[in-house]
Amino acid sequence: MNDLSALPADFIWGAATAAYQIEGAVDEDGRAPSIWDTFSHTPGKVAGGDTGDVACDHYHRVPEDLELIKALGLDAYRFSVAWPRIIPGGGGAVNAAGLAFYDRLVDGLLEAGITPNATLYHWDLPQAQQDRGGWPERETAERFGEYAAVVGQALGDRVKDWATLNEPLCSAWIGHLEGTMAPGWTDLTAAVRASYHLHVGHGLAVQALRAAHSDLRIGIVNNLSPCEPATDREADVAAALRADGHTNRWWLDPIHGRGYPQDMVELYGVDLPIKDGDLESIAAPLDWLGLNYYFRQIIADDPTGPAPHAKSVYLPGVRRTAMDWEVNADGLEQLLVRLSEEYGASRILVTENGSAYHDTVGPDGQVDDPDRSRYLEEHLAACARAVRRGVPLAGYYAWSLLDNFEWAYGYDKRFGLVHVDYASQQRTIKGSGRRYAEIIAAHRRKARRAA
Ligand code: IFM
Repeated sequence: MNDLSALPADFIWGAATAAYQIEGAVDEDGRAPSIWDTFSHTPGKVAGGDTGDVACDHYHRVPEDLELIKALGLDAYRFSVAWPRIIPGGGGAVNAAGLAFYDRLVDGLLEAGITPNATLYHWDLPQAQQDRGGWPERETAERFGEYAAVVGQALGDRVKDWATLNEPLCSAWIGHLEGTMAPGWTDLTAAVRASYHLHVGHGLAVQALRAAHSDLRIGIVNNLSPCEPATDREADVAAALRADGHTNRWWLDPIHGRGYPQDMVELYGVDLPIKDGDLESIAAPLDWLGLNYYFRQIIADDPTGPAPHAKSVYLPGVRRTAMDWEVNADGLEQLLVRLSEEYGASRILVTENGSAYHDTVGPDGQVDDPDRSRYLEEHLAACARAVRRGVPLAGYYAWSLLDNFEWAYGYDKRFGLVHVDYASQQRTIKGSGRRYAEIIAAHRRKARRAA
């Protein structure tokens, strides 16, 4: 067993999900379509033609899913609020039934002694807002600030931990440049403008949440990757620096008051629509930084490829998950140390980390997934090493509580600690879920003994 003794006694053990990936009930109680409803219903966009229409049917199964959270012994549960349930038109009328759903979820969590950690935006932009231009337009940031105020006022008496955005890199770069996520655009200018307005929206949401309740702990969740040159050729080293700018610095520098990295501004060649006060608002002080970590990137120069003219190289002979992502726990340690040393983070949460494997339910009704348990143990050990190096890491949220709708990959990729049979909606705690529960219980026993 890896040594986790460095993790603090009050370490937060959690699991994470996101609204569109688990809730289903896409046309119930006043919810309007989001860009992911549109995208997933567009032929050819999602593997197998899968959609989030039903997903894990979590909307109707909150009590059952709360039992799973309790059975795993979690301290905290990270979920996202669906904007199209709360303000279905993007702006304008608030849908009380949408808020009532999250009321029930939050009350259930608190009754069970589980701390809620809510994310305002995990990619499900109301389609009506997309029709007015979406994230490339400033109006979307303004509507997002209004939505944050509504949700903060409604839930902030009970939910104290908030993230504004989940993985804005995916919304901007994958949604508007690579085109394999909603809204499915391939336009560098739109992507850069979207990235900027996501940050403006983040700043407005921080202000709105602080105004709603003064005791909230607010953060942002970024997905980051170490970017290492494939060779020591000058061209590859330079490409790795560009990939780092595209993947990491573009998302970290502005929220730390450093503005946008000049090398990347020049590379993209797109004017940022900066207004007076924006950069200060984007850099408003936060209470924590969320890190989603899945893989490192090995980078080679790609002069004719799209910005940032750098491509990921496939390393042979390494362990990989069903996503074809390399398993590399050292990358997590490296990023945690970087956030602490280079960006001076004072409180970090690993807000997502996990692995997809081809799980099956055995004849005994069990799901045996030793690869996922090993992945989990190795990444927790990386967290402990980072803590030993002085990183203020306060918690870890496994991705994900449940198998769920894995965006353009559909339901084929299973990340859950809990298996979901989508035909029957039966949930089965996997071997890795039981392993996680054991790790949590052992850590608690040790902390009690030491107290
Ligand atoms: O499923 C996603 C999640 O929505 C965002 N972070 C990465 C996960 C795995 O791809």
